[in-house]
Amino acid sequence: MSSNNARTAIVTGASKGLGAGIAKALAESGAAVVVNYRADARGAERVVADITAKGGRAIAVQADVADGDDVRRLFARAREAYGPVEVLVNNAAVAAFAPLSGITEDEFQREMTTNLLGTILTTQSLAAQEDIGAASIINVSTAGTVSHPPYTALYVASKSAVNAFTIVAAKELGPRGIRVNAIMPGPSDTEGTRAMGYAGSDQEAQAIAATPLGRTGTPDDYGPLVAFLASDDARWITGDVILASGGMR
Ligand SMILES: NC(=O)c1ccc[n+]([C@@H]2O[C@H](COP(=O)([O-])OP(=O)(O)OC[C@H]3O[C@@H](n4cnc5c(N)ncnc54)[C@H](OP(=O)(O)O)[C@@H]3O)[C@@H](O)[C@H]2O)c1
Repeated sequence: MSSNNARTAIVTGASKGLGAGIAKALAESGAAVVVNYRADARGAERVVADITAKGGRAIAVQADVADGDDVRRLFARAREAYGPVEVLVNNAAVAAFAPLSGITEDEFQREMTTNLLGTILTTQSLAAQEDIGAASIINVSTAGTVSHPPYTALYVASKSAVNAFTIVAAKELGPRGIRVNAIMPGPSDTEGTRAMGYAGSDQEAQAIAATPLGRTGTPDDYGPLVAFLASDDARWITGDVILASGGMR
């Protein structure tokens, strides 16, 4: 795996699911990892315990990414524990699938503030550090921004905005050596998708049929890609939005 030795990484929404897999992979690649969560302290502590049991470095820090004060506190705590933050994975997100008529103003606020504003706030905090050199931000989008499935309009719109933000931020931050990329995961087996009843559903069967590699994704599928994008091995890659979906599009 690519090396992120001695780097400080924040992974938002890492108490479970893809974020937990990404946090573990970054720790294996040598980074000291801040496992952020919103409510699931127990899940976050489990991820920290898994990392430290393998000799890695990690702490859990509660913060709501949609709250500017929380995000500034998250960065302050990360810097206090491990020094300047040079790797940021914007993974925290919420989703609710519904037909167009079911999209409410409250749900719009919830998804847009977590998925888009959260990504903007953390990016601002990373960039506000004047003592960082080369840094890497990886935003977790969705393959839905390519496949555009029905009943996902609000969620996919929020993630399409994340894709656009990624490309613009890469242009603004590139001159400082800060790279910004996004990955677009395909449907994956996580606590989040299980809670939505995705595992074993017709929707899952259709997605597998449309996936050349013929299965649902797992949290372990994304860590090595994120560790690569975080590392100097990816030093010439920025402003890219990369499909990681077993070929589903
Ligand atoms: N699973 C898939 O099929 C799939 C496919 C494509 C893209 N993705 C993307 O992959 C990422 C992870 O998805 P997942 O399925 O692993 O999600 P998940 O199992 O639902 O976990 C979501 C994580 O985000 C955290 N979170 C939610 N709101 C937060 C907030 N305001 N502040 C801080 N943390 C917050 C949760 O923390 P708490 O539990 O502590 O509240 C949890 O750790 C998301 O960006 C999602 O859009 C997932």
